[in-house]
Amino acid sequence: MRDLIIAIDGFSSTGKSTLAKLLAKELGYLHIDSGAMYRAISLYALENGMIHGEEINEAELLPQLEFIDVHFEWNPETGRNEIYLNGENVEEKVREMEVSSKVSLIAKIPEVRAHLVELQRKLGKNKRIVMDGRDIGTTVFPDADLKIFLNASAEERAKRRYEEMLKTDHPASFEEVVANINERDRIDSTREVSPLRKADDAVLVDNGRLTPQETLQEVLEIIQNLPK
Ligand code: CDP
Ligand code: CDP
Repeated sequence: MRDLIIAIDGFSSTGKSTLAKLLAKELGYLHIDSGAMYRAISLYALENGMIHGEEINEAELLPQLEFIDVHFEWNPETGRNEIYLNGENVEEKVREMEVSSKVSLIAKIPEVRAHLVELQRKLGKNKRIVMDGRDIGTTVFPDADLKIFLNASAEERAKRRYEEMLKTDHPASFEEVVANINERDRIDSTREVSPLRKADDAVLVDNGRLTPQETLQEVLEIIQNLPK
């Protein structure tokens, strides 16, 4: 099989990272969760007192962007590529509600997007990558070999995220999870720079009634039928 770039986009908690991780394992590709990069920048801004309510102190954050080290390291124990912020593994911290509640505000700043898109394109320069996010098929890799747009009902997505959060040290209430998912989907779809939308040439996959394995099988079939 030729080397591919695979882009997976969709609304919050549709199972993008789960699918991307399984697919990368199956193909021996690199998996990059681009959302974790936006989350790491948000964590940095929070930890350095640059966020007050809905206000981001851009004058302080933007000049520092190029000096913030955000990278991934493979963890054989968890079988995933984990996110590091200035040398610290922040894989768990970036999933906390405090970060989730600010990340879409950070992600709508054009300079933040330009900076992270550049890093993401570098990671894909040798192909053999599965990247998931919101604008991978539309902006980061508009020429991706395969674009998947995942969807599931809002109710199913909230249930999934809530169950996932129950397993963490900082669980949130179901109401909080629903409100956060809805608010992020709203901001992500309506922002000016590369809003979340299905690329015209993306394949829509609804996994509302599918398990992660069934979703993987469906996408592997699509890959088998790609032009050689
Ligand atoms: O996994 P979950 O659906 O909670 O979100 P995520 O993939 O971790 O992304 C967190 C947030 O980062 C999203 O709600 C977007 O605001 C932003 N994001 C983005 O703008 N563009 C991307 N390519 C990936 C994430
Ligand atoms: O990355 P994104 O926010 O789109 O979702 P995720 O973090 O990959 O998945 C959210 C939760 O949904 C995880 O706990 C998955 O195990 C679960 N799930 C799934 O990913 N795919 C299904 N078909 C069913 C459940």
